[in-house]
Amino acid sequence: MVLLNSSTVSTFLSMGVVCICTLMLFFAGYVLQQQSVKNIQHALRPPQAHPAGQGSTFQSSEHQRVLSELNSRLAADLDQPRVEQRSLAGSKGNYAYLQLLSRPDPSDICSAVLFFKTLAKNESAIEDRLFMYPQEWDRMSSKQLGEDASTAMAILRAASIKYGIWLLPIDMTAAKGYSITNTKLLRLGQIQFMQYDSVLYVQTPGLILDTGKLDQVLLSQPLPLVHDKNRPDSYDNKAWTPSALRPERDADLPPVYLVTVNNVGFRNVQARTHVPNTSLPGFGNLITGPSGVDWDNESEGSELPGYVYFENDRDGRVKWAGNPLFGTWRAQQNEVCEGLVFDDM
Ligand SMILES: *[C@@H]1O[C@H](CO)[C@@H](O)[C@H](O)[C@H]1NC(C)=O
Ligand SMILES: *[C@@H]1O[C@H](CO)[C@@H](O)[C@H](O)[C@H]1NC(C)=O
Ligand SMILES: *[C@@H]1O[C@H](CO)[C@@H](O)[C@H](O)[C@H]1NC(C)=O
Repeated sequence: MVLLNSSTVSTFLSMGVVCICTLMLFFAGYVLQQQSVKNIQHALRPPQAHPAGQGSTFQSSEHQRVLSELNSRLAADLDQPRVEQRSLAGSKGNYAYLQLLSRPDPSDICSAVLFFKTLAKNESAIEDRLFMYPQEWDRMSSKQLGEDASTAMAILRAASIKYGIWLLPIDMTAAKGYSITNTKLLRLGQIQFMQYDSVLYVQTPGLILDTGKLDQVLLSQPLPLVHDKNRPDSYDNKAWTPSALRPERDADLPPVYLVTVNNVGFRNVQARTHVPNTSLPGFGNLITGPSGVDWDNESEGSELPGYVYFENDRDGRVKWAGNPLFGTWRAQQNEVCEGLVFDDM
């Protein structure tokens, strides 16, 4: 018979505790992983409707990898009949709004939150809302990212649940050694749009004046969608003019940019990008800069745009001169990002 002294017993006990803890950690990890896989599968289903917030964040690079892989496989399975199926069903199509930031500017992040909040509150007909940013922001401490920027990101994360925003952190390691620009972020992240017929990027900061009118940008004219020689609108579209994405040349995106991504064989995607034809009456002025608005005309029937994007001055600050919306925007922005102080003047 073996006699156990108290120190042996306590050693056994603590080993037991360690084993149990390890097991529990293992199971917790397993359950979490299963959940994220479900979330990803959920995300990949053509999203007729999904509950706001549930599974709406893709956080780790592992998720990103799995997502792109599943994306490619899914697209390979669905290759041709994607668009036809939808148009047969006579549905409105599968569209999303996109806001994208390559610099962690707290004011811009809060403007994006305000954008999505307005869409949610005013019941935009376009249900999907995407926010794309460099994945490294998720790993940076608040010191590295900036105190205000990390507060703004925390507000955005909370808002993603409340307003159904899909957060898309993009792995930028392919751009390592180069500066991270909006165009590079879009190029590396565009694979995420495979499940959509079209994604509409609008520049932030800015302010929605009329959600219905903003929706008309996607809904009022036939869209180019994927190239199809039997559908002239796909290559000769009077509302949408082709405009190539050139990350190696340009840093900034056009303020309004329509992106259609389709699968062209194994792991290769092709993106088609367009800007609106600004001379098309009733269409070209649905989104403008502040200078495109006829502020002095109070008369009935004078046209205000659906969205006004703001310009930055040389210091990268939002220009307030010549922008009568500046005050309204600041006030609404402070509402969504309570606790942050933007005013510099
Ligand atoms: C949101 O809806 C309200 C009530 O219908 C309307 O007064 C307001 O102008 C709308 N705002 C936007 C930004 O569409
Ligand atoms: C843009 O719209 C104008 C006005 O309708 C039209 O005349 C012009 O042909 C359009 N541009 C293109 C490239 O389709
Ligand atoms: C104001 O808008 C109306 C309707 O679009 C237009 O007929 C009128 O010429 C405009 N007035 C001015 C001063 O621009």
